[in-house]
Amino acid sequence: MSGERKTFYITTPIYYPSGNMTIGHTYTTVAADTMTRFKKMQGYDTYFLTGTDEHGQKLEKKAAEEGVTPIEYIDRIVAETKELWKLMNIQYDDFIRTTEERHIRIVQKIFRRFYEQGDIYKAEYEGMYCTPCESFWTPTQLVDKDGVKVCPDCGRPCQPMKEESYFFRMSKYQDWLIDYIETHPDFIQPAKRANEMLTNFLRPGLQDLCVSRTSVKWGIPVDFDEKHTVYVWIDALSNYITALGYGTEQDELFRKYWPADIHLVGKEIVRFHTIYWPIMLHALGLPLPKQVFGHGWLLFGTDKMSKSKGNVVYPQPIVARYGVDALRYYLMREMPFGADGNYTNESFLIRMNADLANDLGNLVSRTVAMIEKYFDGLLPAWDKAAGEPDGGELREHCAALPARVDEQMEKLQFSQALAEIWKVIGECNKYIDLTQPWVLGKDPEKKGLLGNVLLTLAECVRFTAVLIAPFMPSTPERIFAQLGVTEERLKTWDSLACFGALPDGLRVHKGEALFPRIDVNRELEALSGGKSEAAPEAGKKAAGEAGKQEKKDVKQDKKAEKKHDEPAYPDEISIDDFAKCRIQVARVMACEKVEKSSKLLKFTLSLGADGERTVVSGIQKYYAPEALVGKQVAVITNLKPAKLAGIESQGMILSALDDSGNLKLVTVEEGVADGALIG
Ligand code: MSP
Repeated sequence: MSGERKTFYITTPIYYPSGNMTIGHTYTTVAADTMTRFKKMQGYDTYFLTGTDEHGQKLEKKAAEEGVTPIEYIDRIVAETKELWKLMNIQYDDFIRTTEERHIRIVQKIFRRFYEQGDIYKAEYEGMYCTPCESFWTPTQLVDKDGVKVCPDCGRPCQPMKEESYFFRMSKYQDWLIDYIETHPDFIQPAKRANEMLTNFLRPGLQDLCVSRTSVKWGIPVDFDEKHTVYVWIDALSNYITALGYGTEQDELFRKYWPADIHLVGKEIVRFHTIYWPIMLHALGLPLPKQVFGHGWLLFGTDKMSKSKGNVVYPQPIVARYGVDALRYYLMREMPFGADGNYTNESFLIRMNADLANDLGNLVSRTVAMIEKYFDGLLPAWDKAAGEPDGGELREHCAALPARVDEQMEKLQFSQALAEIWKVIGECNKYIDLTQPWVLGKDPEKKGLLGNVLLTLAECVRFTAVLIAPFMPSTPERIFAQLGVTEERLKTWDSLACFGALPDGLRVHKGEALFPRIDVNRELEALSGGKSEAAPEAGKKAAGEAGKQEKKDVKQDKKAEKKHDEPAYPDEISIDDFAKCRIQVARVMACEKVEKSSKLLKFTLSLGADGERTVVSGIQKYYAPEALVGKQVAVITNLKPAKLAGIESQGMILSALDDSGNLKLVTVEEGVADGALIG
């Protein structure tokens, strides 16, 4: 190959090592790994960076609770994280830790440069301060407890306080960034996140950002003012360039791979990656990453998984019981990338059976078994004269598959890419039913046609094995072994340029089922009993919790559960589609907990001249009912009534999750009458 190969640099967020990584962190990391493997297969020179974000008070506190030093605590978590990535078959090129010298030195250099060029200035930070937590809170973060503003973490009262800090003059770059985002539609994906950034943060005006603390000791010292440590984002975001040797003599990687092709991040940190990070880079005179992709959350019920809520799922017990490829497949298949989705043991088990055991597993085993039975295990040669029973339709669809997968992968639509592959797998299984090889096999005159049918299937299986490799790295070899494919050239992306590359005479080998069928109820039981083997203690417990919750979930009203999920929205709807929803302002006249439910609140709402409504909403844990009385909310009033806990709910109250995963009700500014239409 002549010339330089095209490069592809992808990153995950650097994770806080405040506890073991969950299935949520695994989700992002598997997505980045899948993308890297896909690009690598296509011939790109890839670089995949992940790592850990190791500074801050929280970590200092965590370590103190365990009676160890911060670095001792973090080293343990980092070692376990690396083990987990190995288990998940993650092939990163580098793992950056923000406590490494190579990172610290450059962050100090960057901070100093910002200061020297006037982007950073020293001032006083004023806010409400929680002394026991050593944390500042903004007025909106504080929680009202009996009329006193208290700390959202510990619930104790906060006091006004001043602290000397350095600030980054974000406002200086605001107009430039608005223009950049508007002229680079691919920069922030999905596109709706770009709108959120423009509307919620950039157009209303950026606040200058506090970038140092004197009260946080576990951080990178500001080298020209040692009582300060660098506060959070300058430290964390710089990892994407410090890992490449930016600012050092050994900056070959930086010169080769920057700007990054994709920063993959969860939606809660899109803001930092699409506002602070571009501004920092611009201030350093560096080009911006080509894309920041904000994906959705893997939820548990309606909740974001979190240790404090005790609803965390860990991957280890699942992998121990069902293998890594099954979990990787599920994570990439279950929800459209960009939207939220629920993890449930049940949906995982159902997918394993339907997609892996039935669709893929059966196709491979039937194809191989029939070649054994009718051709003594040797792949027949193509019989031109015999033709094809479907006029070549399946062959054409399969030949077009790589391009379709590529199209979806370009948009990071992992789930759609897999759906394309499984569409062809489904067609293959139908083709078997339609062509009935067992009937053809009885007629010696149909031998040529039978051979062509099986050869077509075998080639489709080979295409499938190649295309699933980035998602399920260890399954293809098991398929190739059954097909008798040993030559590396038949396992490549390039080999898919032509359908029909399988040489005749290959000897197939019937092997074990790729994915055994499982008894979903029994497995749910096993997961809830925590019977899986070889799982770390923490993981076992989590799988147990997941299983128990699972059974409850199955019984509960799924609609209420899913209310806050983000469906896969179409890119465009007509005004008529929107007009179908009647959204009205309603005043909460009464609100009470629904008996025997830990989730539901019952509302009596006034729509002014349109009368009163009863609405049931699953938001009990976010609001005390009495605090809502008198508030105005937004309600969909022409939604089909639904029974929740035996009460007819005549509408849906609108809400949104904030950055910390807390639910906030949508409301209107003062002066709007009850019953007013929203639109
Ligand atoms: N340290 C910061 C990121 C700094 S990047 C310069 C941080 N760390 S974190 O440990 O909280 O990791 C957050 C990331 O983990 C999310 O952005 C997301 O990629 C992933 N996830 C963790 N839990 C998740 C779910 N339940 N669902 C999906 N992804 C989530 O924020």
